[in-house]
Amino acid sequence: MSALFTPFTLKDVTLRNRIAIPPMCQYRADDGFTNDWHQVHYAAIARGGAGLVIVEATGVSADGRITPACLGIWDDAHVDGLSRIAASIKSAGAVPGIQIAHAGRKASAERPWDGDDHIDAADPRSWETIGPSAIAYGHGLPRTPRAMTLDDIARVKADFVAAAKRALAAGFEWLELHFAHGYLAQSFFSAHSNQRDDRYGGNAENRGRFLLETLAAVREVWPEHLPLTARFGVLEYDGRDDETLAESIDLVRKMREGGLDLLNVSVGFTIAETKIPWGSAFLGPIAERVRREAGLPVAAAWGIDDPLAANRVVTEGQMDLVMVGRAHLSDPHWPYKAAMALGVPRASWTLPPSYAHWLERYAPMRA
Ligand SMILES: Cc1cc2nc3c(=O)[nH]c(=O)nc-3n(C[C@H](O)[C@H](O)[C@H](O)COP(=O)(O)O)c2cc1C
Repeated sequence: MSALFTPFTLKDVTLRNRIAIPPMCQYRADDGFTNDWHQVHYAAIARGGAGLVIVEATGVSADGRITPACLGIWDDAHVDGLSRIAASIKSAGAVPGIQIAHAGRKASAERPWDGDDHIDAADPRSWETIGPSAIAYGHGLPRTPRAMTLDDIARVKADFVAAAKRALAAGFEWLELHFAHGYLAQSFFSAHSNQRDDRYGGNAENRGRFLLETLAAVREVWPEHLPLTARFGVLEYDGRDDETLAESIDLVRKMREGGLDLLNVSVGFTIAETKIPWGSAFLGPIAERVRREAGLPVAAAWGIDDPLAANRVVTEGQMDLVMVGRAHLSDPHWPYKAAMALGVPRASWTLPPSYAHWLERYAPMRA
C-alpha cells in the first residue's frame, strides 16, 4: 500500500488516508450563514475520498471575516447549517474539520473575483479593522487597522473560545486555528505588523503570546480526545527566514506543550514583497524541519497536485498529512484518481458504493 493511502490516527480520530482538503473560502455566505452552495460543495469533495475535509476560514466574529461573503461562527444560529455540513462530510467517510479565524487588518475586503481589495471605508458593507498595531498591509489592502487594546485582545480570545464550542456542537472533530496568512494571529507574530511596546509586542516571546494564550483558552473547551491544530506561517520569504524559522519553531514547540496536536505548516503572507519559491511541494523540507525540531505531526499544502509528489512527501517523512486544495476544485475525485495512479488495489474504496460499484464493474472493459 502506498504511504498516501495508509490511515492516520491523531488522538481518537482516524483518517482513512493521508489526504486532507485544506480550508478554501467559498465567498458565498450571507451574514456568515451556510447555504446550498456550501452543503453541496463540501459533500461533493468529501465523497471524493479524502481522509479529512477542513471547512473554510470561518469568522469568530463578524469583523473577523475576510469579506462580507465569508462563513461565520459567532452566533449560535450559525451552528445548524454548519452541523449539516459536518454530518455530510462524516457520512462520506471523511473526518469533518473546520478552521476558525479572525482576519485582522486584512478583513473587510472584496471577494477575490471582485478585486480582493479593501472595501472603500465609505461603503456601508465595510467595517473597522483591527490589528496588533496601526500598520496597514498596503497595496490593495491600504486601510490602517485600529491598534487593539488589551480589552480587544481579551474579546478576540473569548470569540475563539465561543467559536470552538460552537464547532464542537456542530459535530466537527478536528479544529484548526487560523494563525497564518497575515491574518490577525499571524500579524501578532510578525514584527512587520506588530510594533507594540506592551507584553504582546517586541521580542519573539511577546509576539507569540496572543497565539499561545488563544490556543490555551481554546484547549480548555476543545475536548482532549479530539485534535486541536493550527495553521501557521513559519516563514515569510522576506530575506530573514533563518531567524524567523528559528523563532517560529520555538513557538510551535511551546504550542505543542500547550496542547497543539498538529501544525499545518504554511507561509506568513504578512507582507507583499516576498520571494516565494513556488514549486511542487516546495514546503516539504520546511515542514519536515518543523516536524523534527518542534516534535509534532505536520501537514502542508501549496502546489501538491501530483499523486507521486503527495506520496513521496509522506514516504520521506516530510509530512504526516498532505493538503491538496485547488486540485480538488478541478476534480473532487482527486483521491480516487491518485489511488489509481499509485496502483492502490481496489482504488475505488475511496468512493461511495453508488460510484465505486460501477467504476469497478466496468474497469475490465477499459483495460
Ligand atoms: C479558493 C481558495 C480559498 C482559500 N481559502 C483559505 C482559507 O479559508 N484558509 C486558509 O488557511 N487557506 C485558504 N486558502 C489556501 C489553501 O488552503 C491552500 O493552502 C492553497 O490553495 C494552496 O494549496 P493548493 O496548491 O493545493 O491549492 C485558499 C485557497 C483557495 C484557492
